[in-house]
Amino acid sequence: MDYAVLKAVDLKVSRFALGTWGFSGSRNWGPNDEGESIGTIHLALDNGINFMDSAPKYNDGAAEIILGKAVKGRRDKVVIATKAYSDELDRKGMAKACEASLKRLGTDYIDLYQVHWPSRTIPFPETMEAFEKLKKAGKIRAIGVCNYGVECLEGAKGHAVATNQLPYSLVWRQVEDEIIPKSRAQGVSVWPYCPLAQGLLTGKFKTIEDVPPARRNVRFYSGAWKQGLHSDGGFEKEIFGFLPRLQAVADGAGLPMAALALAFLKGRPEVDSVLVGARSRRQLEENLKIFAAPVPPEVLAEAVRLSDELKPKMGKNPDLWQSENGGRFF
Ligand SMILES: NC(=O)c1ccc[n+]([C@@H]2O[C@H](COP(=O)([O-])OP(=O)(O)OC[C@H]3O[C@@H](n4cnc5c(N)ncnc54)[C@H](OP(=O)(O)O)[C@@H]3O)[C@@H](O)[C@H]2O)c1
Repeated sequence: MDYAVLKAVDLKVSRFALGTWGFSGSRNWGPNDEGESIGTIHLALDNGINFMDSAPKYNDGAAEIILGKAVKGRRDKVVIATKAYSDELDRKGMAKACEASLKRLGTDYIDLYQVHWPSRTIPFPETMEAFEKLKKAGKIRAIGVCNYGVECLEGAKGHAVATNQLPYSLVWRQVEDEIIPKSRAQGVSVWPYCPLAQGLLTGKFKTIEDVPPARRNVRFYSGAWKQGLHSDGGFEKEIFGFLPRLQAVADGAGLPMAALALAFLKGRPEVDSVLVGARSRRQLEENLKIFAAPVPPEVLAEAVRLSDELKPKMGKNPDLWQSENGGRFF
């Protein structure tokens, strides 16, 4: 496993990070066997993955509990990242949320404590002060954010923000135009999430009918689906037009499609670590192999060329879930 040191803080993290949302048994993913989830986290640790992301929102803390159980006895080998939600970013709210996460994780410190989604009502100085207080008390080691746009990043200036988690993949590149340059300029590492577009970029979903119904809630898909969390048209035509072309490039090179998806992100200068989901040991094993596989530059260039054609058709809103008022990024 390769590692990187996050610029703003002295944290050495694996370039492949493991997401825990899929372990939580949430509505989005459906039930996951706890033994398999814990086994997957153990396999990650055995393969040198030390960077793991969770959140209280992942099925009411279920993912944090599983992560805590899995790292028991190996706590010092893991950089645990978890989050406070947009309504918990004031002094009192964040202190309370942090205590609850510590308890679920069964630890006395969180390595990277992040804003899950920004708040339009709680002032940035108050949020940053709440973080600094937790840091001083030894409850957290570093500050991170997620889904921070330009205005939010400006509001965090002057504080050592280690990471900005952003939805970023070959099919979802809205963050490239303004948010990534701003993150970079402030020394904030971009931490891409949904790098496989929730399974689309593994190539296993050939048509919309293949996508599990509960997952058709994001803006990849039409808001007309019963599960839709938004009201716009989605991008089914664009995405299912792009995927066979990407598959042909992958097939031509004898590589799985996911190898192109992960190579695209791990080669970016602003990315130190890619946050990948896997719901089983089998998927993690496969993804680790894929992550390590060399992708010839001309193959990656062809994949990026196709993605460049798709990008302008995908709109400017990076929010994967909401379209009202342009989404929740600001
Ligand atoms: N900060 C935020 O707002 C935010 C938002 C979203 C996610 N995240 C974080 O980012 C992490 C990663 O994102 P994600 O899990 O949503 O998306 P992802 O990494 O793009 O996709 C992961 C999903 O794809 C499928 N998959 C993975 N490897 C596979 C393989 N080898 N073969 C076939 N299918 C495979 C699995 O689902 P199935 O097997 O069920 O198809 C898996 O759960 C999350 O766990 C979470 O920690 C953060």
